[in-house]
Parts: sequence; structure tokens; C-alpha cells
Amino acid sequence: MRNITFTMIKPEAVEAGNTGAILNRMEEAGFRILALKKVHLTAERAGLFYEVHKERPFYGELVEYMSGGPIIAAILEKDNAVADFRTLIGSTNPEEADEGTIRKEFATSLAMNAVHGSDSDENANIEANFHFSEEERF
Ligand code: RTP
Ligand code: MG
Repeated sequence: MRNITFTMIKPEAVEAGNTGAILNRMEEAGFRILALKKVHLTAERAGLFYEVHKERPFYGELVEYMSGGPIIAAILEKDNAVADFRTLIGSTNPEEADEGTIRKEFATSLAMNAVHGSDSDENANIEANFHFSEEERF
């Protein structure tokens, strides 16, 4: 079944000029870009997006990082989108990410790991709705 996942190219990867290369990796892996934008999240918006991690020790650092510069937000469509995209990006910690994954190639640390990928179909829809209206999806 074709379904969606939500991704962000995180601020350090955008700043490093890796937007085009990372989007290319996603398209080459068979993901269709359904919605796409560049946006600078306020600390409040970044905090809301990552509210599930509110109690985690890295929450403050994460919010500061994700609101520290513009990100690229996108909705991607593919069969088995959520699981296949997590495979494409690799482990959260780039030191543990497999060869050939986006995080292996582009991430600089556990905190600055280049890309976000939704962890379930339910969260993919919540996250897509957080960033995009109906008229921004094609
Ligand atoms: P994401 O949500 O960004 O796709 O990453 P993930 O599922 O692989 O990892 P998650 O546990 O959801 O963590 C969200 C993001 O928080 C940052 N993080 N920092 N300093 C730390 O110990 C730490 N742990 C996680 C990373 O940017 C991670 O992607
Ligand atoms: Mg996550």
C-alpha cells in the first residue's frame, strides 16, 4: 500500500549545502515528493513538534538546534514509506548507521544527524499536518 512519511533536512545539513544531494537520495530510493518547503521554525514551534521528547534530557538542546536555522520539510510517498525511509536514513547515531545510509554520509553527530524520519504511520500524518495544509500537497 502506498503511504506517506514526513521528513526534515535538519539545519546543519541545510547550512552545509546538502539539501539537493539529500533530496536526490530520497527520490532515487523511490520516494515521491508530495509536499516541500524551507522554513525557519521558532523555538516554540520546534518545541511543539518534538513535544513527545519533552521529558528527555536532550529536549532543550534539540529544540535549540532545530530552531537554530532553516530546515527543509517534506512529505514523501512510497510503498511501506515509514519503515523504508527509516532504513534509508540509518540509525539515530551516525556512528552506528550502515554504509550507504543518508545519516552515514551526511550526519555529523548524534544530535546533528542531518535528517528526521517519522517513526509510525500515525506520527507521519500528525507531522505532515503540523507543517502542511491540504493545498500544499500534490
Ligand atoms: P528523528 O525523530 O529526528 O527522526 O530521530 P530518531 O527517531 O532516529 O531519534 P529520536 O529518539 O526520535 O530522537 C530525536 C532527535 O533527538 C536528537 N537526539 N539527541 N543528545 C542526544 O542524546 C540525542 N538523542 C537524540 C537527534 O537529533 C534525534 O534525531
Ligand atoms: Mg524520532
